[in-house]
Amino acid sequence: MNPAPAIYFAPFQGITTRPFREVYARHFQGVDKLFTPYFSNIAEGYPLPPLKMKALSVQHENGIPIIPQILSKSAGEMLSFARSCAGLGFEELNWNLGCPYPQVARKKRGSGILPFPDMVDEILDALMPQIPLKLSVKCRLGYYSPDEIKELVPVFNRYPIAELTIHARIGKQLYSGDTDLKSFGEVYHEIKVPVIYNGDIFTKDDHARIKSFFPGIGSLMIGRGILQDPFLPARIRGLTLPEDTRKVLRNYLDDLYFETRRNKKDESSALNALKEFWTYFMHSFRYPQGVFRKLKKVKSFDEYEDAVNSVFEEDALRHSISPEPVG
Ligand SMILES: Cc1cc2nc3c(=O)[nH]c(=O)nc-3n(C[C@H](O)[C@H](O)[C@H](O)COP(=O)(O)O)c2cc1C
Repeated sequence: MNPAPAIYFAPFQGITTRPFREVYARHFQGVDKLFTPYFSNIAEGYPLPPLKMKALSVQHENGIPIIPQILSKSAGEMLSFARSCAGLGFEELNWNLGCPYPQVARKKRGSGILPFPDMVDEILDALMPQIPLKLSVKCRLGYYSPDEIKELVPVFNRYPIAELTIHARIGKQLYSGDTDLKSFGEVYHEIKVPVIYNGDIFTKDDHARIKSFFPGIGSLMIGRGILQDPFLPARIRGLTLPEDTRKVLRNYLDDLYFETRRNKKDESSALNALKEFWTYFMHSFRYPQGVFRKLKKVKSFDEYEDAVNSVFEEDALRHSISPEPVG
């Protein structure tokens, strides 16, 4: 563990996969926990199929614990997955009560279950006495309204949940609109479970602001901020950055490129995954839109390599002027 404050790297379906986590942890410092994108459709009572086993084959990355995440509304399914994870050596399972996508939420999964505290209660009641590892929860303030969390807090408080991460939005907002710090502030001190704040931390100053608004918050979870600026955790902690940050970023990218090529079934799915990553990483550069224009049109690995070379030749990194931590 790094010294406080703990920083968790948020899960991203399709991005923070096993190869990505391995590459990130090889090049950057300052993160205390890495989360898998959510798993779903677990066959109860059966061993995990080979693809899921492969995705869960590593429990620590460069010393950082990996936390598997499940999207489910069934205690039986969760227990089955929890047993598999415990058997593989994981120490914590995270329950996704935050996914906002209508096709998920409509089925009362992810943030779609938040308006139904009795359902959450029933699931925890069945699960908690049997679960063989720690359970943490990642939720939003609600699905339709930030008032929903007020009904959920007494439920969460009744169980020995290891940590509760709250993304300070409601499901209906998806990822847009402002975070609702007022509603978060109204409930967080009522929660007995250790609370982790999540939402819109992009700079060291954003982090300091949240810590000053909510001094009781121990840890923060950051997603897009780290994808955009992989040095962000080190900047927040005031760690000494490498002298040549440009070279580190280039090595990170090259590693990610080769790992993605190795792990995807064909050229077009590898390029799509890399382009998705660049929708965030382009913000490491001073002219993100120009950078992304170059990347988004590539149709082959050769074109991808040329585009990356040209982006780096321009040497227009947002933070390249000073290797010092910047706000
Ligand atoms: C494309 C995408 C995929 C995501 N996948 C997951 C996921 O699998 N599990 C999860 O809990 N959150 C997921 N999230 C939400 C993020 O983990 C995080 O909570 C959200 O981006 C807010 O944090 P940030 O403002 O620091 O990025 C996803 C978000 C996006 C944009």
